[in-house]
Amino acid sequence: MASFRSIEWLHDRGQLRLLDQRQLPAREEYVDCDTVTSLVAAINDMVVRGAPAIGVAAAYGLSIAAFGYQGKSLKELVRITQDAAAILKASRPTAVNLVWAVDEALRRIRSENAADAESFKSATIRIAHELYDEDIQTNRAIGAAAAELFAEQTTVIHHCNTGSIATVDYGTALGAIRIASESGKSVFVYVDETRPRLQGAKLTRWELQQFNIPHQLIVDGASGHVMRSRKVDFCIVGCDRVAANGDVANKIGTYNLAVVAQKNNVPFYVAAPLSTIDLKTISGAEIEIEERPDAEVTSVDGHSIAPTGTAVYNPAFDVTPGDLISGFITERGIVRPPFTANLAKLMEKSR
Ligand code: MRU
Repeated sequence: MASFRSIEWLHDRGQLRLLDQRQLPAREEYVDCDTVTSLVAAINDMVVRGAPAIGVAAAYGLSIAAFGYQGKSLKELVRITQDAAAILKASRPTAVNLVWAVDEALRRIRSENAADAESFKSATIRIAHELYDEDIQTNRAIGAAAAELFAEQTTVIHHCNTGSIATVDYGTALGAIRIASESGKSVFVYVDETRPRLQGAKLTRWELQQFNIPHQLIVDGASGHVMRSRKVDFCIVGCDRVAANGDVANKIGTYNLAVVAQKNNVPFYVAAPLSTIDLKTISGAEIEIEERPDAEVTSVDGHSIAPTGTAVYNPAFDVTPGDLISGFITERGIVRPPFTANLAKLMEKSR
């Protein structure tokens, strides 16, 4: 078990402690959020990142809002919490887990029918803890479902940040890799560095090192060459939103990886909890792609790498069409094509 957690609720202070992922792997530092505004800034600045992690953090944001209210009016407290929900949901646009977790927390809080402000506050925290615990169970179940993909010796390519700190613990794609390794299988990982924020180089590699899983870091553009010249059994990534037809939004560069994987007959798997599957989004064309500051591209760790005034386009995510995807690894098993029918069936069964 890792000794670090991306999210920790400090009950006596009514604050959320976040592992500052911007500082890793150089420093293990924490940011404490005691207002919704500070939590929104932390999500937006990528102190906490990864779709499930920002979802659970935002669920705790409702508790921060509730605990910040000193009055006795239940009606006023409900209004404050709903206002906080709207602000939190808008803090990043692409990962549906954020919206899912806030709406799910609100639904469960409401269903508790709190009689007064104090019980409403307790409900917010109980529900956030529930979502926190469920995320760990979900990731372990994703790992169990993925077991059939890992032979005794398996080599994979992984993109972005999908491990313990992109979630509450274990992770989605990286969780599957870790669970396969813990079960005694020999797994080798080519780690895409994941420009521009280098989640692969900084975070995934750091986690693989903690778990003693053999790996090599590659630049994103090397994956085609690696697939042509070395044995790669499959690619495995996480995701931020799955549309009803199986199109997937994930970290920029995922689409390139999937195209090159198909060209080289390498299967391409996406690990996704059900909370990432958004049947209301019909296809990837409807997914809002976050654009981030130019400086993420023109500099690395504050050092400029491009001439002053360089024009930049910096989409943080891309859409991979479902026809490039071999399967979705979920907590309810692996879903294979045809995705429109099979994702709908899966979600219907899990209602
Ligand atoms: O911009 P980020 O770092 O929050 O993006 C993270 C990703 O795209 C991850 O691949 C995704 O959320 C995987 S979920 C464990």
